Amino acid sequence: MKSVLVTGASGGLGTRVVQELHHDGYRVIATVGSEKNRTLFDQLPNVQSHVVDLLDSADVTNFISRLNQESIHAAALLVGGFTMGGFQDTNVADLDSMYRINFLTAFNLVKPLLSLFEAQGGGQFIFIGARPALVAEAGKNMIAYSLSKALIFELANLVNAYGKEKGISATVIVPGTIDTPTNRQAMPDADPSKWITPETISETITFVLSDTGRQLDEPVLKMYNQP
Ligand SMILES: NC(=O)c1ccc[n+]([C@@H]2O[C@H](COP(=O)([O-])OP(=O)(O)OC[C@H]3O[C@@H](n4cnc5c(N)ncnc54)[C@H](OP(=O)(O)O)[C@@H]3O)[C@@H](O)[C@H]2O)c1
Repeated sequence: MKSVLVTGASGGLGTRVVQELHHDGYRVIATVGSEKNRTLFDQLPNVQSHVVDLLDSADVTNFISRLNQESIHAAALLVGGFTMGGFQDTNVADLDSMYRINFLTAFNLVKPLLSLFEAQGGGQFIFIGARPALVAEAGKNMIAYSLSKALIFELANLVNAYGKEKGISATVIVPGTIDTPTNRQAMPDADPSKWITPETISETITFVLSDTGRQLDEPVLKMYNQP
């Protein structure tokens, strides 16, 4: 049975990703940020949940070492956060907080997982980017968010370069607006039928992990809103 590590498993996207991977026969190692969410997947066999502060590199190292060298085939690093703000509304604290939640939570796991993947002869990373990091017109009113997500694309490039002959690869999925309860609440006047569903993103992730999907070169998969 193949194992996939999923971070942000209690989030609007993560909950569905865990269910989809479980349904497809993967063993899932899920991380959540809060104790209250540890039991979220208790009904699903082959899903184990851990509370890990991914901003704390010591906590991350401790978590990986607790896994006892078991093999992990892939990691879907889903943790992220959002803030609005154009240039005049963005300060160093905003930049720092977006950098930490969107980049550092991934980077802190990339380091130990690269060692693990190298030792076991390969592995896949799945990162979540964002359209405003690629489309400046969309990002100009969310500066800290866009800059922090831009780092995810470069992180994937660097992982792909490093992992080329080691069987290690990175995919970036770039969602538009995800149809989550939080977004529905935050944008009551928007039309959610134009958004991308967690189901569609989860199915894309299982495709990327499949024998066919693994053959894609440096994929950046844009899953934008319907016009
Ligand atoms: N929502 C959108 O429309 C949208 C659009 C484009 C891209 N994205 C990206 O898609 C991804 C998933 O978004 P989402 O809406 O599902 O996010 P979400 O609902 O806000 O979930 C965030 C997750 O991150 C966890 N988390 C937060 N801080 C953490 C920390 N320090 N250590 C460990 N875990 C931590 C939370 O855990 P607890 O709740 O258990 O604390 C939760 O599971 C993110 O990368 C986001 O930037 C989202």
